[in-house]
Amino acid sequence: MGGKVALITGGNGITGTAIVEHLVKKTSLEEWSSIIVTSRSPFRSTIQDPRIKFIALDFSEGPEALAVQMHEICAPVTHAYFSSYIHRDDFEELNKVNSAIFENFLQALLKVATSLENCTLQTGGKYYNLHLLPVPTPAREDEPRSGAGPDNFYFSQEDALTKAHTGQTWTWNVIRPEAIIGHTLKPNGMNSALTFVLYFLVCKELGVEAKMPTNPIYWDGHDCVSDARLVADLSIYVSTNSHCANEAFNVNNGDYFTWKYMWPRLASFFGASATSDQVFTRPMPSLGTLQQELSLAEWSKDKREVWDRICDKASMPEAKATWDAGTWGYQDWVFQRAWAGTLSINKARKFGWTGHIDSFESLTDSFKSFQDLGLIPKLE
Ligand SMILES: NC(=O)c1ccc[n+]([C@@H]2O[C@H](COP(=O)([O-])OP(=O)(O)OC[C@H]3O[C@@H](n4cnc5c(N)ncnc54)[C@H](OP(=O)(O)O)[C@@H]3O)[C@@H](O)[C@H]2O)c1
Repeated sequence: MGGKVALITGGNGITGTAIVEHLVKKTSLEEWSSIIVTSRSPFRSTIQDPRIKFIALDFSEGPEALAVQMHEICAPVTHAYFSSYIHRDDFEELNKVNSAIFENFLQALLKVATSLENCTLQTGGKYYNLHLLPVPTPAREDEPRSGAGPDNFYFSQEDALTKAHTGQTWTWNVIRPEAIIGHTLKPNGMNSALTFVLYFLVCKELGVEAKMPTNPIYWDGHDCVSDARLVADLSIYVSTNSHCANEAFNVNNGDYFTWKYMWPRLASFFGASATSDQVFTRPMPSLGTLQQELSLAEWSKDKREVWDRICDKASMPEAKATWDAGTWGYQDWVFQRAWAGTLSINKARKFGWTGHIDSFESLTDSFKSFQDLGLIPKLE
């Protein structure tokens, strides 16, 4: 019998990149005979493996049209990983565009992949609405859905998956990370680590304190992040172990931290100046409201020339384009919350998964990967 056949969507994204890298680096031809990758635009990767086959697909097309394009290449797929995403800073627009792309994908997949064994959908902390208001934390997978705020596209995506599964032999999984720490070669929707690098290096160049653009409640509260390598590892683990079938799992690095102590450590990694005694100038916000000392979207507007100067000084003019990969609006979304919210990963542990990484190392590893990929100048 041949090995398993993966289909990874969002191959240019932060999750898709990590799943492809995981299968290439950690699995053999006997285990995974083929790695089919899709994205909307051409595949951009430094990873090479004869098992990789690429097809460009736009999931805003209907299932019939997609099935015609997927028919030949996707027929042998046994394991599908959905990590496509369209980022919009406006929540209503975000929900609308992302509900549709998963349904189109799933219906097309089920038409063509007659040997399907598992479909794994990635959603995230937004499932708990922790991007909108304070919620029970660390959030557990079996929390009742919170009805607050506009429709949540994760509900419709997860419902489409479990509904399609009724009466079928294939299994499903859902993976729910918090802010993902990883890399892409193409600018993506949400990349905290890359946004931090641009901010720290520009503040250092300007000789100003790299204040964390948040509020005192977020600064003091606990947080967690999810390394893309662990997201990939858990995705493969649960989708290939039968005792994990038909379950949703949160994923994070396995530690919890406060930005008050993490932020200055990250700043010093770049030689930028920041302190745990950061002074906030605005009055203490009420819990559950939105407040930010400084908007990164506003701040970034007139800093491109500073970034260009940094790249010129480092003789790396090709890194100038990285400025456009800063996800400023998304980072404002996160940093303006006057509440803290984390995910519990007890469930993944109970199901035997042992992934863990120190979040400081997770972030600095990703900073180093940006250097290795030539996205930012080499650090001294
Ligand atoms: N990034 C985070 O920090 C984070 C945190 C928690 C949860 N999540 C969740 O994880 C999931 C995956 O997000 P991500 O951050 O990994 O995504 P991402 O890095 O923004 O990548 C999105 C991918 O989707 C593809 N795509 C966009 N529009 C498409 C379309 N119409 N048809 C087909 N493909 C399309 C993009 O293709 P091209 O680039 O080729 O256009 C890209 O490969 C989402 O549900 C997201 O909310 C992400």
